Amino acid sequence: MNTIGLDIGTSSVKALLVSPTGEVLKVSSPEYPFQNPQPLWAETNPEVWWEATQQAIHSLLENKDPHSIGGIGLTGQMHGLVALDGKGDVLRPCIMWNDQRSFAECKEMTSVIGKEDVLRITGNPVLAGFTAPKILWIQKNEPEVFAKIDKIVLPKDYIRYKLTGEFFTDVSDASGMSLLNVGSRSWSEEIMDALGWPKEWLAEVTESTEVSSKISKTASVLTGLPAGTPVVAGGGDCAAQAVGSSIVEEGKVSVTLGTSGVVFAQSDEYRVEPKGKLHSFCHAVPGKWHMMGVMLSAAGSFQWFKNELAKDHSRIEEEGGANAYDSLTNQASDIKPGSEGCIFLPYLSGERTPHPDPHARGAFIGLSLRHGIGHMARSVLEGVSFGLNDSLTLMRGLGINPSNIILSGGGTSSSLWKQMLSDIFQSECTLVNAKEGAAYGAALLASVGIGVQKTVEQASKNWIRETENISPGKNVNTYNEFYSHYRNLYPSLKDHFHLISQITEKGEGE
Ligand code: XUL
Repeated sequence: MNTIGLDIGTSSVKALLVSPTGEVLKVSSPEYPFQNPQPLWAETNPEVWWEATQQAIHSLLENKDPHSIGGIGLTGQMHGLVALDGKGDVLRPCIMWNDQRSFAECKEMTSVIGKEDVLRITGNPVLAGFTAPKILWIQKNEPEVFAKIDKIVLPKDYIRYKLTGEFFTDVSDASGMSLLNVGSRSWSEEIMDALGWPKEWLAEVTESTEVSSKISKTASVLTGLPAGTPVVAGGGDCAAQAVGSSIVEEGKVSVTLGTSGVVFAQSDEYRVEPKGKLHSFCHAVPGKWHMMGVMLSAAGSFQWFKNELAKDHSRIEEEGGANAYDSLTNQASDIKPGSEGCIFLPYLSGERTPHPDPHARGAFIGLSLRHGIGHMARSVLEGVSFGLNDSLTLMRGLGINPSNIILSGGGTSSSLWKQMLSDIFQSECTLVNAKEGAAYGAALLASVGIGVQKTVEQASKNWIRETENISPGKNVNTYNEFYSHYRNLYPSLKDHFHLISQITEKGEGE
């Protein structure tokens, strides 16, 4: 039987139809915008995801027998807060993973529960972006909404509700809410009680390969999927992406260059970085965990650079010329490693790993009259790579020393960037055949859930193979030198970022 993987992403739904042997038969990816109604805020109306999901499923099923679909696996952006009332209606737009408004609530929640207990129970500090501090924000700022809350669901689980009429979530996605006991893979009564929130708000939590519910009659009419088609729990997009990149064994590590950047290591045990600098979450592989570093603006930094500072390249592309990313990376490849001393800090949306700081900001340091667009483009690629290396350095400090690193995500289409990552990580890097990211991992989890594949590990061996290997080259030493300066820049600038944010948040900088 074929499976469908559905990824409820930040800017699009990605739907994949995948054969039992892992071949991608069809892709549909309708896009939608998200809103930044205020500085630090990011929101989307969940109804937009549901409309795009229906459209994507219709497009997958065109000229296909819907009865050939054995199951559906769900994945999506993590941490988003979707609040529903007693009728299952959305109470306000989803507060998304990249929304940083709740930093005061993070402090409050940490002091109510206690710093050590939060880390021990949830595997992480409470971070702006995670779900629980957003609930606290609503409690304080939108009491009329708070009073009506009946269910709290994550983005993919809202779509599950629309598809099946039932509330379920999985351990990997639930790990990013600051409400799960990550070690025991169950909701933390201790935390819910300390915050005074009812446990009934939360959906039943299962392992990622479990069949949670089935397509309802209503959803069958709306999507064309037969009623009763199994819907498998699935996983948060980072865990599903990792499953889809073969990160299913102890010590394997991947780096994903999407809008956000993710450094991900599988772990057989529940381990917590002593200062909570790396996320510790349940993996989508049943009974396993993972550690993770998340950079909020990775390929997103390069997209911002292209859209805002290299408009000529985009215009030339619109007029039928070269792809703007290709022409920018071509220009960047003519520049020496280290961009002649121009270093970019990629904290355009604040940062999570290794500096959990909503007020961190981006910067070009070391500009001179010699620098042009090519230098700046190269320094963006280098700065993002250095930032990802920070997460890897933390992992190496915990004894995680992968023999090679699996690279994935849109950014890996650039050979310059791939080689740069291998040089900066000082590690062999490998690409795999699976290019469709988290949605592919969700289809794989569905295939295991409905019994076509025996285990996630076995499915990964059957579906995924290596396609390209990259070894560190001649620039290793130069990058190592620049990296040591990069690491010192955030600590030197931190106080200034905070003082400047006080001015802009008062509105005086406008
Ligand atoms: C992970 C995270 C992001 C989102 C984006 O912790 O915040 O990767 O899941 O999709």
